[in-house]
Amino acid sequence: MGLDKKYETGILWQDTQHRQLIDLMEKLSDSNAREADPKMFTYTTAFLAMYVTHHFNLEEQYMKTYGYPDLEFHLKEHHKYIDMIKAFRKDHTRFSMEGALFLEQSILKWILDHIMENDQKLGAFIGKEEKKRLLAKKD
Ligand SMILES: [Fe+2]
Ligand SMILES: [Fe+2]
Repeated sequence: MGLDKKYETGILWQDTQHRQLIDLMEKLSDSNAREADPKMFTYTTAFLAMYVTHHFNLEEQYMKTYGYPDLEFHLKEHHKYIDMIKAFRKDHTRFSMEGALFLEQSILKWILDHIMENDQKLGAFIGKEEKKRLLAKKD
């Protein structure tokens, strides 16, 4: 599955990780459509929490390294998500249709909105900074 062009940030590692996140969410929603799969549900929520933390840390590192001006706001958004997924996992230790719908409708939607509203800005900034550094090296 490819990442829809409109979600691209232009930064390879960021796009690859976003695609992995979205693929996982889509797999979950497919599996729920076929037969509600409790194992897939538990696996996905655990994986999502772990993976997203890793992904957020990487974005944070880049923001710090390049002095991203919107760092504070962007990190606040990440923390909102971490709180949301924590609360979700506490309330949904096992599969429920309502939980599966929340994952698809609210959590996936949050990720996509975050990419379009925040990560694309960050991606453009990283791209600019990397270009600057590359040009500086040539001199
Ligand atoms: Fe991201
Ligand atoms: Fe982000």
